[in-house]
Amino acid sequence: MPILDARTLEFISHSPEQTLRLGARLGERLASGDLLCLSGELGAGKTTFVTGVGRGWGALEPVTSPTFVLVNEYRRADGLCLRHMDCYRLNSGGEAMAVGLEDLLDSPGAMLIEWPERILEVLPRERLNLKLSWVNDSKRGFRLEAEGARYEHLLTEFRHATFGG
Ligand SMILES: Nc1ncnc2c1ncn2[C@@H]1O[C@H](COP(=O)(O)OP(=O)(O)O)[C@@H](O)[C@H]1O
Ligand SMILES: [Mg+2]
Repeated sequence: MPILDARTLEFISHSPEQTLRLGARLGERLASGDLLCLSGELGAGKTTFVTGVGRGWGALEPVTSPTFVLVNEYRRADGLCLRHMDCYRLNSGGEAMAVGLEDLLDSPGAMLIEWPERILEVLPRERLNLKLSWVNDSKRGFRLEAEGARYEHLLTEFRHATFGG
């Protein structure tokens, strides 16, 4: 596991189950107000990871992919929402603002955004970026990049919980 610097972590997941577990480890550490952006081609493992995030976060229903709607909301027992937005069909940040991105980001709860590159110009600077890449049939490359002090802290906690040290 190369630690490139305090803001960046790279590792390999060797199975879908491991990706679910990694997602759950991050999900259980997400706090209200947190933003996680997920990039990666079709089949890279975004939905698998997000399903794990939902488990760890404590969503009352399983988290799936928002294929036909832009945003899915998942509640947990304390009433907080995990929001999952898929920007694949958006063409600009302006379109994201038009569908209420600002209010979504201001609402209590945590936010996951797929295809953030579609709306980069309106995303908050401070966020956790996850870049997933296909390695072979069973392996996926992970690159986590923390932007801002909150996310450096989150990344450090995740690293300790996952890899020790
Ligand atoms: N290490 C791995 N992590 C995640 N998914 C994997 C892994 N190895 C194989 N897979 C498979 O790759 C596919 C990933 O699909 P999915 O999570 O829907 O990707 P995306 O949402 O990025 O299109 C699933 O069929 C999953 O079983
Ligand atoms: Mg998907």
